[in-house]
Amino acid sequence: MLKGKTVILGVSGGIAAYKAAALASALKQGGAEVYVLMTEHAKEFIGPATFEGLTGHRVISDTFRSEEFLIPHIRLAAMADLFLVAPATANIIAKLSAGIADDMLTSTFIAATCPKLVVPAMNVNMYENPATQDNLDRLRQRGIVVLEPAVGHLAEGSVARGKMPEPSVLYRMAEYMIGCNKDLAGKKILITAGPTREPLDPVRYLTNRSTGKMGYALAKAAAMRGAETVLVSGPVHDAGDGVDNALLTGGGGNASDSVLLPAGVKRVPVQTAAEMAEAVKKESRDADCVIMAAAVADFRPLRQEPEKIKKAKLKQETDPETGVRGYSLSLERTEDILAWLGAHRQPGQKLAGFSMETENLLENSRRKLVEKQVDLIAANSLKKAGAGFGTDTNIVTLIRQEGERELPLLSKEETAQEILNELFAETE
Ligand SMILES: Cc1cc2nc3c(=O)[nH]c(=O)nc-3n(C[C@H](O)[C@H](O)[C@H](O)COP(=O)(O)O)c2cc1C
Repeated sequence: MLKGKTVILGVSGGIAAYKAAALASALKQGGAEVYVLMTEHAKEFIGPATFEGLTGHRVISDTFRSEEFLIPHIRLAAMADLFLVAPATANIIAKLSAGIADDMLTSTFIAATCPKLVVPAMNVNMYENPATQDNLDRLRQRGIVVLEPAVGHLAEGSVARGKMPEPSVLYRMAEYMIGCNKDLAGKKILITAGPTREPLDPVRYLTNRSTGKMGYALAKAAAMRGAETVLVSGPVHDAGDGVDNALLTGGGGNASDSVLLPAGVKRVPVQTAAEMAEAVKKESRDADCVIMAAAVADFRPLRQEPEKIKKAKLKQETDPETGVRGYSLSLERTEDILAWLGAHRQPGQKLAGFSMETENLLENSRRKLVEKQVDLIAANSLKKAGAGFGTDTNIVTLIRQEGERELPLLSKEETAQEILNELFAETE
């Protein structure tokens, strides 16, 4: 997602400097060219060799000593697509706010005109000191993005605000800030993701194998392209901000079943198909586009028991075909949310859904397109290797009234971009 981008990572002298190494690595693996500028004090916390090994570029601290560039602060400032300062000490924040340029980091910062992200990390009293807060406000007023430190264990042993957010969060912020053209700015896109859970009793439920990866990839793509993005999400395994698996694979996701909430996305968590229907009806009223990527349960138990069902309470029956004695469960249909959207479409609203079948995929998907009155069905087969639930890749055929386009094996993030391209082709 950062291919072709140049990121300058400024590292100043705080405890969290060690985390900047993981960030530099993730940015590099995400495709960016990464240049690290360290303050002299930062070198008390981590050695330049670490960054040089990870990025393939010499660390520059002294404006007058660079092996790569003649006038390094001007040259690098001109090349940069993003300037990230992480961790930013109270001292460096004060200098940046005052416009001081007495080393390589600060001189390049003041010369750079690209988007800038400053990530404070320090003791809570240093952070809350009015001098630091005034300095941060001044940076914000100049359009510099300042990330709020997280609450967590600080070096002194207390739990307080001042901790640098995990590298995965910073990577996502970087992607969000410069990863894409903002061609969907001004549009609201509603996306659903994940499975639903249909309770039988307080401890048991019916569900499916959806992990939410496709829906989360769509939300990320929409947000990165500037859309106001709302994600109605069924229960998913959230990797959370403490897990950096995504970094190990270049920030592009991981091989596990977990997902990460993309930066800039509003998540509405739901459990059941009925809750999802209610949330979609509410959020779709002013949406320019709705993409139903959730695997909404088609059926739910007819009765939800208030207490855990005892084995003895279940009715035993003999199956007329096999003669096997077993327990039976009565199910009822859940609401077809996509069909509801088709029947209640707002003027100009674009609607898309997914289709996952084990047989007659294309015929069933074409019928779904017409019956549900939607613009696009993304049909994915469970039978192809690399497609379907839990994988990081997908093989999808995009079906519209005007024609069909079979996409090759792509990452779910690339598939998401293609779906948005298809839906918004005429406005691009
Ligand atoms: C062990 C230790 C840890 C420190 N951690 C931080 C920190 O997390 N944040 C901070 O703003 N300053 C921290 N400081 C203080 C800075 O290192 C100090 O203000 C220094 O002058 C910052 O220089 P720089 O901004 O040029 O890198 C720490 C100092 C020491 C000795």
